Amino acid sequence: MQTTELEMAAQGEFPRVRTRELPAPGPGQVLVRVEATGVSFAEQQMRRGKYYDQPKFPFVPGYDLVGIADGQRVAALTKVGGWADHVVLDREDLVPVPDGVSAEAAETVVVNGLTAWRMLHRAAKVKRGDTIVVLGASGGVGTVLVQLARHAGVDVIGTSGPKQLDEVRALGATVIDHRNEDVHARVRELAPEGVAAVFDHVGGPGIDASWKLLARGGTLVSYGSASTRDVPGNPALPVLKLIAKLQVWNTLPNGRGATFFNLWAGHRFRRARFRAQLREDLTRVFALLRDGVIEPRIAARYPLTEAADALRFAEAGGFTGKVVLVPEG
Ligand SMILES: NC(=O)c1ccc[n+]([C@@H]2O[C@H](COP(=O)([O-])OP(=O)(O)OC[C@H]3O[C@@H](n4cnc5c(N)ncnc54)[C@H](OP(=O)(O)O)[C@@H]3O)[C@@H](O)[C@H]2O)c1
Repeated sequence: MQTTELEMAAQGEFPRVRTRELPAPGPGQVLVRVEATGVSFAEQQMRRGKYYDQPKFPFVPGYDLVGIADGQRVAALTKVGGWADHVVLDREDLVPVPDGVSAEAAETVVVNGLTAWRMLHRAAKVKRGDTIVVLGASGGVGTVLVQLARHAGVDVIGTSGPKQLDEVRALGATVIDHRNEDVHARVRELAPEGVAAVFDHVGGPGIDASWKLLARGGTLVSYGSASTRDVPGNPALPVLKLIAKLQVWNTLPNGRGATFFNLWAGHRFRRARFRAQLREDLTRVFALLRDGVIEPRIAARYPLTEAADALRFAEAGGFTGKVVLVPEG
């Protein structure tokens, strides 16, 4: 069985198509015919050698996928390897997709839905009537986060570039143009007492401003370092610096909390628990998608073999939702 996959050969290069012979599935494994995968911010960082858990070149990117295994539509979180038309995966890593949910729709909420749901309900523990700030509300995670928050009865202040403001507003957020407005000053106007949570994937020095937006009892959820994507140096360092800063803030007696959210926590040492939790949470998110609570936001679709163009599109920014890759037949 041959697979067509996209390989990132060396740092700075865009992925190229290659084919290789797939090994037969081993015990507990299954062949998955991929129907949809997608572009995450992680691949922009990985291409530059700047992902905090950077894979060694050459590798096949692809953070998550949806496909058919043994006649059933399933989804998997892979971190790497998803940009292929066939993959062999451990059966225990597969989560069923409900009937009536298309592969492309499901693809918009695998990594993004898991991240958004857990940050809202496990990290920040938002409550009905809260007001929160979502930076980058137009992105793959951001669009799902806004929708889940609105569903939970939470008011959302979302930031985006000027092109995406209308679409973010349509998701139910009050919008701030982060290119042309002073985000900190505008949030202060909208929520003078501070907010219950800030979701910050930007990192860098701006994290200080995010912290200052919190009301008493509020939580800063830091979950990325998008601002350091193009800064040379050790890929783990920006995240380690963030974590150190958050820990200091957490120890101060100020009635606010700060946490770094990591979707992969527990993956290495508590695998069975990690898998069970992933299945539970993704099943919940898929049900919300099936029931129309989450509307899938697809920014663009590309054939899998044109993943390099899809990545260029994502790197240019200015889109709303998820960039989806679809293997041809
Ligand atoms: N910690 C975890 O476990 C975890 C899990 C999943 C994702 N993440 C993080 O979540 C973030 C979003 O991922 P995604 O796949 O949803 O990305 P995405 O779809 O590419 O969206 C990225 C969003 O961030 C904005 N953005 C990019 N660079 C920025 C910068 N320097 N300053 C401010 N905003 C910036 C973009 O706005 P424009 O288009 O207007 O530039 C866009 O709204 C990433 O930082 C990723 O690393 C973390």
